[in-house]
Amino acid sequence: MSNFTNHSFKGQRALIRVDFNVPIKNGTITDDTRIRAALPTIKKVLADGGSVVLMSHWGRPLKDIEKKPHLTLADFSLQPVVGHLSTLLGTDVQFSNDCISDDAAQKAAALQPGQVLLLENLRYYKQEEKGDKKFAEKLSKLGDVYINDAFGTAHRAHASTAIIADFFPGDKKMFGLLMEGEVKAAEQVMNNARKPFTAIIGGAKVSDKILIIENLLEKATDIIIGGGMAYTFFKAQGGQIGNSLCEDDRLDMANDLLKKAAEKGVCIHLPADSILADKFAADAATSSALSMEVPEGWMGLDIGQMAIANFSKVIGDSKTILWNGPMGVFEMDKFQHGTKAIAEAVAAATEKGAFSLVGGGDSVAAVNKFDLADKVSYVSTGGGAMLEFFEGKTLPGIAAIKN
Ligand code: 3PG
Ligand code: MG
Repeated sequence: MSNFTNHSFKGQRALIRVDFNVPIKNGTITDDTRIRAALPTIKKVLADGGSVVLMSHWGRPLKDIEKKPHLTLADFSLQPVVGHLSTLLGTDVQFSNDCISDDAAQKAAALQPGQVLLLENLRYYKQEEKGDKKFAEKLSKLGDVYINDAFGTAHRAHASTAIIADFFPGDKKMFGLLMEGEVKAAEQVMNNARKPFTAIIGGAKVSDKILIIENLLEKATDIIIGGGMAYTFFKAQGGQIGNSLCEDDRLDMANDLLKKAAEKGVCIHLPADSILADKFAADAATSSALSMEVPEGWMGLDIGQMAIANFSKVIGDSKTILWNGPMGVFEMDKFQHGTKAIAEAVAAATEKGAFSLVGGGDSVAAVNKFDLADKVSYVSTGGGAMLEFFEGKTLPGIAAIKN
């Protein structure tokens, strides 16, 4: 692989895989974080005197159209990104409405230094997700060099994220600046964590987080578990959890994890108390209780005061922090306090010198909501990708360039 920073793109067409899978509602981008995160890479190529061909997926068009036939490919277009990206870059962005058409090839070939072309959604073609070689080869013709800057999609072995790399020699494929930064931050936590190393894992389901917790048992000194998934642990230990979320088929697994952690000397911290609601709604009546003693008719939607105090102390003593998943239903004001307090504790520990990495859509939305994104060491653009990285898996998007 080549080094992006040392590479001069003068006179070259850089084909950049970005992850512009951003939330778009009625044609308007509601969160442009991933687009802004790709700008430094694009700008460096342009500043060198190169041109840029951008390619991305958006959503899961073919699968969704199969399920909801009223949808069409047009509902999954990347067209709404064009205007916003032009504004962010301060230059016109061209668009080709079919990523492997003659139109795409002609527009790419005609690019002058400083010009940018965005291709329509790669997933209009089933060959993209299948990792089809011919499709990857066609795409590869659109650039002189290949840059993967799509960390958010690095866990997919798709044509544009992995297979395409085979069509470029070692000195013509590389990570972009975003990918470099993501990999560096993730590797620092995975391989060089200063201890104590606390992992904060939240979210609704244990089944989604089992692999990451198992892998972190080998790395972390402390694991904080919050969010809906905590109640599966409480029930597994014989607690009364009322109507709280629970995966009844995962009770043994939860006990197993606790046992493994004890054997390895890793401290698992569960929220001792909870904020309760009488229904899953923003206007629910609220109460509080020990998490092992949730009365019938109530459900835990946030961690309570004792849990906040305990978790904040553990976080405050940490030198490395990994955070994936919220502590409660922070989208609703009544149930945001736990997640907010944890975000504040992570920010305070970072200020004291800890290295903190936050990833996963919900936890990133939380640090943004509480205006703390620039008070943590690194905010990842990867959800699934970050999860799989910390599950210890090899990410195809990374391996394809490195090998
Ligand atoms: C994401 O947002 O998770 C990435 O862009 C990958 O998308 P996918 O989960 O549809 O592959
Ligand atoms: Mg995903």
